[in-house]
Amino acid sequence: MYQLSNLITNLNKELKKYNINESIDLKISTIQNYDFQINNLVKFQKNKDIKKIKSSFSEIIENEPFIKHYEITDKYFINLLINIELFLPGIENLKDSIKVKKPKKIILDYGGPNIGKPLHVGHLRSLNIGRSLYQINKFAGHNVLNDIHLGDWGMPIAQIICYTDENNIDLGKVKIDDLEKIYPKASKLYSEDPDFNLKAQNVNKQLNEKKEPLLEKWKNIKSISVQSIKEALSLLGHDFDLWMGESDVNNLIPTMIKQLYEKNKISMDGGAYISNFQSDPKILITKSDGSYLYLTTDLATVLDRQKKNKFDKTIYIVDKRQKLHFEQLFNSIKFFQFGNEEFLHVEFGTVNDSKGNPFKTRDGDTKKLSELYNETILKIKEINEDLDEDSYKLLANTVLTYSDLITNRKTDYKFDLDKFTNISGKTGIYVQYAFVRANKLIENSNIDVENINLVFSDIRDLDNNLIKCFLKFEYYYFQALVNNEPHHLADYLYELSNLFNSMYQDENILENTNEIVKLNKLKIAYYFLFYSKMVMELLGIQPAQKM
Ligand code: ARG
Repeated sequence: MYQLSNLITNLNKELKKYNINESIDLKISTIQNYDFQINNLVKFQKNKDIKKIKSSFSEIIENEPFIKHYEITDKYFINLLINIELFLPGIENLKDSIKVKKPKKIILDYGGPNIGKPLHVGHLRSLNIGRSLYQINKFAGHNVLNDIHLGDWGMPIAQIICYTDENNIDLGKVKIDDLEKIYPKASKLYSEDPDFNLKAQNVNKQLNEKKEPLLEKWKNIKSISVQSIKEALSLLGHDFDLWMGESDVNNLIPTMIKQLYEKNKISMDGGAYISNFQSDPKILITKSDGSYLYLTTDLATVLDRQKKNKFDKTIYIVDKRQKLHFEQLFNSIKFFQFGNEEFLHVEFGTVNDSKGNPFKTRDGDTKKLSELYNETILKIKEINEDLDEDSYKLLANTVLTYSDLITNRKTDYKFDLDKFTNISGKTGIYVQYAFVRANKLIENSNIDVENINLVFSDIRDLDNNLIKCFLKFEYYYFQALVNNEPHHLADYLYELSNLFNSMYQDENILENTNEIVKLNKLKIAYYFLFYSKMVMELLGIQPAQKM
């Protein structure tokens, strides 16, 4: 890992020795002559070990070549001055130096739409966080794959087929819009009409036995759905390496169950299979009618992925309401001795409407993602009337991504289109605007900015703030990587853009009469573009060319 993280990691480790569970927070200094400050120790002034901590901190800081000068005050504020000249030349090799020493093979399971139903607002966060974590892990040099893990098997499909049978609907002619209307009706009948319920159960059983013509009907539903899901995803700029689904592992389940039973890992209980793992509630592996559960398919998927691609780590990016499911899954993987690779549930909260209510359409259905996308485009068109279609699309995707990732993933948030499209504030529009501005500035200068060398003796304060902010990249990046939290980078992008705007607005750069100061500022704007673009890519955002 890159340099500043080393310092922070070492300080964190030191605190742990004293049983202090803090993570060192590196802030931009408010004090003249210093670049960074660390205030974590201030609240431990009365700690019995504080003297010892101070001296070991001093030792760590002194050993850090990038620290030019430092002080630890009486109140235990730590002030650091960085050797920027040592740092900046490293920008070009930043991407190499950030790479981990031992790359892992990682699979990211996200998106997870169910066929027969449209992509809706509930999928937004999984897609955004998933795509960003994909980029972040790839950037670290890991070998990553993403799998959409379609919900393409089981009861919901059986209900749709049953409904079309009952109503003589020809699945060969059905369009996605029809299909999306069928599912809610079928699901309602399933829970209210015992007769329909029985028939649907029967369809499900036959489907599990891969009986025709049911299988053909299933294929029809799947192909219509997948096509529509692919269209929606491409609009939103998402791409998947693997399009596996629950149906792909169905045939592995009987053997899996048999072996678990033989190894005495599961027992029969009133027709159902229950895990022998001690837990409350008990973990159900199959239902009493022999049908499979969500957990059954997820277990079989683990075996399938293992067989096909020996992954070191599996990350599931799924709503926090499925916490229990993943706890059960991970406990079962261990108990069944399926493997000791790493499995992780990256959970997230709910997106509500601007009033804080669940996001619904006027008919009471969950709002489709395509609708949200169209509303966002309209809003942006209202604000800026003279852009081309591609720019509107890019900005709409920026808004849908940035406003989602800026929130800590664990908290719920309100989707407020007015707020998220505001030109000032922590918005996707704001960060794109700064980017476009910097690009224009460099273009209009007609100078070969890439080859300018900074003159360190003539760097103005505001410009220096931006440079200091560049140095913080690796720290935020590292936070995002280890905690699977893109919001650190989203915050960072705002900070960068904000500091660039301060520099830009302070004085007219191109008309600056001091040539050295002008060239310095242009070069710093050039670095800003480098960082901003890199962070946008890590967030899954494409930088805008015009606005
Ligand atoms: N299709 C599931 C749902 O709608 C999400 C799938 C998440 N991935 C997984 N391997 N369980 O809730």
